[in-house]
Amino acid sequence: MNTTAKMALGVNIDHIAVLREARRINDPDPLDALSICKRAGADQITIHLREDRRHINDFDAQKIMFNSALPVNLECSIDPEIISIICALRPHRATLVPEKREEVTTEGGLDVISHLEKIKKAVAQLKAHDISVSLFIDPDEAIIEASSKLDIDMVELHTGRYANIYAMLNTPLSTTHHSLVEFERPRSELTKMLADSLEQIKDVAYFAHQKGLLVAAGHGLNYQNVEAIRDINVIKELNIGQSIIARSVFTGLEKAIRDMKELLK
Ligand code: PXP
Repeated sequence: MNTTAKMALGVNIDHIAVLREARRINDPDPLDALSICKRAGADQITIHLREDRRHINDFDAQKIMFNSALPVNLECSIDPEIISIICALRPHRATLVPEKREEVTTEGGLDVISHLEKIKKAVAQLKAHDISVSLFIDPDEAIIEASSKLDIDMVELHTGRYANIYAMLNTPLSTTHHSLVEFERPRSELTKMLADSLEQIKDVAYFAHQKGLLVAAGHGLNYQNVEAIRDINVIKELNIGQSIIARSVFTGLEKAIRDMKELLK
């Protein structure tokens, strides 16, 4: 295994805007994170311009695009109105994600098979504006197969299920958390589920790599569960938000990012 390959870290700074929107004021400003992310060794800024603008808004996105010294990965839905905004912003990359208004966070991957025509259209529009395109998808070979036929550059594998099973096994308090109830099982079963879920991410990552796609991963990754994902050699980028911003409340953002970078070595 090539252990020297560099794993890139994209920091999802949306969570800073989540805190700001809790008060609907202008503090903290995600813009202030840009120079800290750069100094701490992050490789990319990741933001999600949601249709409901519940955290990052259009003005944030414009300011971040204008001021970021790091490449910006803009996550967005396939809604034509949003795609036109992304084309005007011209980020380094657009990551297409599914969106449901009622969800707390992106719950599953993009259903490339059911929404093929809409996705094709969005991809064509983004590529015409020289924007690299990634699809945020579940680790599923059939979805990779369908994705590989599109004019995309990358897939980002959804690690949320792996992270939830990991949390259920390792964080006793989380057993009461509503989002984890579906994983309430005996430990032996959870241990097997965790191994299977990791194996699935690994197999699908290699499959995507063989299909010529760059492979990223993200969602629910933290300082405890990231190492097994880091060790999947063909995954070249992780996008991590919640755990880094949560830790930053106690350690400061720069240290929180440096700690994560250290784990990714
Ligand atoms: N990648 C994508 C496509 C996402 O939608 C998110 C959630 O904002 C992340 C990565 C980061 O997830 P988390 O905040 O759980 O680290």
